This record gives sequence, structure tokens and C-alpha cells, in this order.
Amino acid sequence: MTESWATFGADLHLDLSAGRGLRAGLVEALREAARSGRLAPGTRLPSSRSFAADLGIARNTVAEAYAELVAEGWLTARQGSGTRVAERARPRRPAAAARVRHPARRRPSYSLQAGTPDLGGFPRAAWLTAARRALTDAPNEAFGYAADARGRVELREALAGYLARARGVCADPERIVLCAGFAHALTLLAGVLRARRVREAAVEGYGLDVHRDLLTRAGLRTRPLAVDASGARTPDLSGESGAVLLTPAHQFPTGVALTPSRRAAAVDWARTTGGLILEDDYDGEFRYDRQSVGALQGLDPDRVVYLGTASKSLAPGLRMGWMVVPPGMLDEVVAMKGPTDWTSSALEQLTLAEFIRSGAYDRHVRGMRLHYRRRRDELVAAVSGRVAVSGLAAGLHAVLDLPAGTQASVLRAAAWQDLALDTLSRYAHPEAGLPEREALVVGYGTPPTSAWSPTLAALVAALP
Ligand SMILES: Cc1ncc(COP(=O)(O)O)c(C=O)c1O
Repeated sequence: MTESWATFGADLHLDLSAGRGLRAGLVEALREAARSGRLAPGTRLPSSRSFAADLGIARNTVAEAYAELVAEGWLTARQGSGTRVAERARPRRPAAAARVRHPARRRPSYSLQAGTPDLGGFPRAAWLTAARRALTDAPNEAFGYAADARGRVELREALAGYLARARGVCADPERIVLCAGFAHALTLLAGVLRARRVREAAVEGYGLDVHRDLLTRAGLRTRPLAVDASGARTPDLSGESGAVLLTPAHQFPTGVALTPSRRAAAVDWARTTGGLILEDDYDGEFRYDRQSVGALQGLDPDRVVYLGTASKSLAPGLRMGWMVVPPGMLDEVVAMKGPTDWTSSALEQLTLAEFIRSGAYDRHVRGMRLHYRRRRDELVAAVSGRVAVSGLAAGLHAVLDLPAGTQASVLRAAAWQDLALDTLSRYAHPEAGLPEREALVVGYGTPPTSAWSPTLAALVAALP
């Protein structure tokens, strides 16, 4: 591992969200850490380069913060021995009154809540290279109002090649519609289904409430499907549902794959009832024990809408997603998006197209796969003998099954450690009537590198 904050034995989480500018925030956070003793005298700080990389800020910002604290006497800097906490910066417990003046308004120190990748892993330099190239090559018309509701053809073509190669999707650039993330695509599809007078969509009994809410807000009732070790129970699909939303490659959040017979049952249901399958392939690139199972869409491209996103592979902040739409539905989706749906920037689309075409996307995914796989291995090793890890070796989260009767005390212990954690039951559909399963959903992709070791330690400390 390269030199990093996490390897200095100084497991310290710095909250830089306080507002006042990054440098001032960093100075304040380090000063407070030295003052309170969280950073012991003599502790060697990471180099400004590696600390800046960990925090995702400019190196100069860190160097300036160090210089300010050296000037104040909190740190010492010596050629050859780096920057250290000054010996005379003796820990002093803050006075009770001072503590009261700083109420705990902040986020928890550590989080293993699922949903985000390691944001520090965003490939800034490679993205910048692609952006520069895309900007140089962009035709003038790219700077105008988009004429094609499906999005830039350059990205649709790049995605068609990538999705066919990497995910087995039957993808024609003509039938790809670019969206501002999966959530936007799902909103559009829900609108199309309502316009078709569909009233109900089946969803997995465990899933994201935000996606269920999105369907409900569009006027669709959601019917939960039980989920077991073979994935969603697709043989139970009802003729009353006009669509089903599935996560076949890696069920979210239980982490199982939809078995071939369950895939076949979903396609049979769609063929006999005229229903539509919405395939959410949110983390299909991240499988660690074998090659990913191909997309369900390949089984019947006329009945499956394939939905992909850059939110796990790159970053949710990009708001970049795509769907591959069955031929018979394309006009409706385009009409639903409308001629004035300019939700995503042409320059970002062109950059992603260049990023994929140049091979940078593949390289980035390979690198992140290794990163997450290491984290998953470390998680499994750290909890072994204490709790069982279930679900595939895939994605950015794992499920930890807890011994019966221990969940409440684990949550209390996690709160005591200032660790944000979610239970599996938090994802249950309110009408699913699922048997109580005491389990945690651990988003091991979430912590920044600087916080990974202490976050894992906090989790282990909270386990029975
Ligand atoms: C199950 C699932 N689907 C889709 C997404 C991606 O959503 P979006 O592209 O709207 O960021 C996520 C991201 O957290 C997810 O967990």
C-alpha cells in the first residue's frame, strides 16, 4: 500500500465539512486533534501529498495547513523526519462548558451505510484527460440545446460496445437512452407504465425505499416479491403486475444472484402476461470470485429494459445513467423524456464516451475491483468466527447475519462507537411480511481510505 493516512497508526477521522474553507477546516481539525490528545505528541503525520490524496483535496492546502500549525507550535517539521505533533502539545481535555458550546451537530465519525462507492477513488486525472480530449473534439453543435432526447450519439455508441462486451447486453445505440442516473430512468419508465394504464409493479421484498417511493409517486402500487437464496421468487409474479423491478446480478441488499431458473421464470411471466422486466444492473462490474453473470436482458431484449449507472463504478455525483429500451417502447420513452429534457450535460456525456473509448473506464473498473475486493477480504477476515457473511463476493456491500437476539445490542454498540450502520430490515418492503432476520448491510465501499481501518475496528468492536 502506498504511504497513506491509514498506515500511520494515527486512526483519526477529520471532519472537514464545517464550512469555513478547506484550509481553515483542516487547520482547526488538526489543532483540535492535537489539543485533545487524539493525535498524541510525537505522532508523525502523513506527507502532504498522500494526505491530500486521501482527503481528495489539493496538496498545497495540506502544506499550507501544516505550515500554519508549525508556526503556531502545534506541529514540528524537520528535514528527514517529516511533520510531527509537537512534544509540548500536551493533551488537554476540553472543559465541559466548551463542549456544550460545540453541540454534536456533525455526521457520525464512521459510516458503513451502503449506497456510495469510495469517493476518493474517483479517477480525477484520467477523467480530466478524457474531458480535455472531449472538449477539444466536440463539435460546436454540442454546446447548443440537445436535439435528440436519447442523448449524445457518441456516448450511446461507446456504451453499446461496452455493454455488449462486458455485460452481454443486446445493445443497439439507437435504443439506448441516456439519463441523469438510474433514478431518472426509473421515473421515466414509471411514467410510461402509467400512460399504458399499468397500476402495479412488482418489486423485490428487500430493496431501496427511494426507488419504491419513486414508483409510488408516479401512481404505481408496489407488490413485494419474497427474496430467498435464489433471488427474488419470480415464479410468484402475478398477472396483476404490469412490470417487475429486479437486481438479477447482485440482489440489493441481500447480495444473492438470481438463479437461471428464476431468470427463466421472469421471462416466461413477461411473455405470457405482456409484462415488462426492469433490470437494475447497478454494480454488475464488481464480481470478485468469477466473471460476472451476464445481464438478464440478453434472454429477451423485447421484454427487458436494461438499466445501468455510473453511480457505483465512477461516482453518484456525475448523475449519469443509461437504459437499453425494447424496440416497441422506444417512442414512448423518448416522448416521456420530452424535447426539453436537458437533464445531463453534453460535455459530461462526451467525456464519458471518450473515457470508455480510450479504455480508461475498463482500467478504472479493474483498479476499483481490486480495491473493493481487498476491503471485502479484510471485512470477512475481521468478522470471521463472530458472524456469518452472506451473499456473493461482489459489489460494494455484504450482509452479516447476527446471532438471534443480538441486533439491538449491536446497534447500540455501533452508536457508542459513532458508527452509522443499517440493518437488513431497514430495506424490507412494508407489506412484505418477511420473517425477522437479524442482519446488517455493510457498505464496505463507503469509507474513505483514511477512515477504513478505524471503521472496520469500530464494526468489529460492536459485534457480539
Ligand atoms: C440498487 C441500486 N440501484 C441503482 C442505484 C443507482 O442509482 P442512481 O443511478 O440513481 O444514482 C443504486 C445506488 O445506490 C442502487 O443501490
